Amino acid sequence: MKLPIFLDNHSTNPMDPRVLETMLPYFVEKFGNAASRNHAFGWAAEEAVENARKQIAKLIKADPKEIVFTSGGTESDNLAIKGVLEMYGEKGTHIITSSTEHRAVLDTVKALEGKGKATVTYLPVDKFGMVNPEDVRNAITEKTILISVMLANNEIGTINPVKEIGKIAKEKGVLFHCDATQAVGKIPVDVQEMGIDLMAFTAHKLYGPKGIGALYVRKKNPRVRIIAQMDGGGHERGMRSGTLPVPLIVGFGKACELCEQEMVQETARLIAMRDRLEASIMKALEETYLNGHPTSRLPGNLNISFAYVEGESLLMGMKDIALSSGSACTSATLEPSYVLRALGVGTELAHSSIRFGLGRFNTDDEIDYTIKKVIEIVTKLREMSPLYEMAKEGVDLKSVQWAAH
Ligand SMILES: Cc1ncc(COP(=O)(O)O)c(C=O)c1O
Repeated sequence: MKLPIFLDNHSTNPMDPRVLETMLPYFVEKFGNAASRNHAFGWAAEEAVENARKQIAKLIKADPKEIVFTSGGTESDNLAIKGVLEMYGEKGTHIITSSTEHRAVLDTVKALEGKGKATVTYLPVDKFGMVNPEDVRNAITEKTILISVMLANNEIGTINPVKEIGKIAKEKGVLFHCDATQAVGKIPVDVQEMGIDLMAFTAHKLYGPKGIGALYVRKKNPRVRIIAQMDGGGHERGMRSGTLPVPLIVGFGKACELCEQEMVQETARLIAMRDRLEASIMKALEETYLNGHPTSRLPGNLNISFAYVEGESLLMGMKDIALSSGSACTSATLEPSYVLRALGVGTELAHSSIRFGLGRFNTDDEIDYTIKKVIEIVTKLREMSPLYEMAKEGVDLKSVQWAAH
């Protein structure tokens, strides 16, 4: 086993070596521009792009013509939301989203709201982080043009009831955009069955290269149209101009193919490792709380709050394991995660949370090491914590009158 251990697979994934192998010829030998229609270099590049488009479409049960290449999840979310608003803005400017979306969605709708271009409803989530489809239904007005709800959350892994939301969207004739960046390649995704009209996803979260993503844009029932956010050569059927990065696209395609072929076995392996990690930690340490849905959750996700322990201190004590804490360092202050706060997790417990993100290349030995290390460091930090000592002595911390400074 090699240190450090990478257990931050929601932030990105290491690229699969089999993906790199398929990409290599497209840097030097087969370097053509896929838009060069009149020579062999261009034809070879175009063929490779179209082959990748098929591999990607197959993974999400789409038609290859419904795939628009972008630079990643962030750009796809921007293109979907801004593109729909510009296209259908005459009908209305109301957008419905949820409070636990990634910032690629939240900051996009907030920017539009700030400029007075859209009005936005931010739906709450339940204590597991799930959106209630009935809340979506109740929020729809005749001015609603878009619903944007994520498939799986990046912090707590909760999987939303997207199929039910898609059904409501169809019934009401409102377009449905889904940020599936954390879900595609990890759980089965079927844009038909889920009633999705637009969907953002990215290669670097499914063991492909960074810098390439896609937006699924439905072609029929209904035919969705969006206004391009980048003017130029009219690539990607006018929806996203710019010379296609052929090696990245080839890698994205191969990565999707591997996910499709190996998802069943990989999921079983990840769930076994994740459940062992969860059970061992929670059995050994009292006052640990699972954040997110107990079952409707991404296979590789485990988010736990360790009462009386600062998440950041825990990370500092385990520098040989790459993890993420539930606090975001914004300017000089440490803000507790807005996702955890939306579930109703208190500030203290939000600050004490750690996200474990397991992936394809993690091993049982790494999980054993992590279990041992987490138990050791949490125990040590609690031993040093006066609050923990008081709580153990039966003092009700809420009743303590703290000295004013
Ligand atoms: C849910 C979600 N949406 C969007 C993004 C942004 O994707 P990208 O890094 O490809 O821009 C991420 C990445 O962290 C994500 O987790």
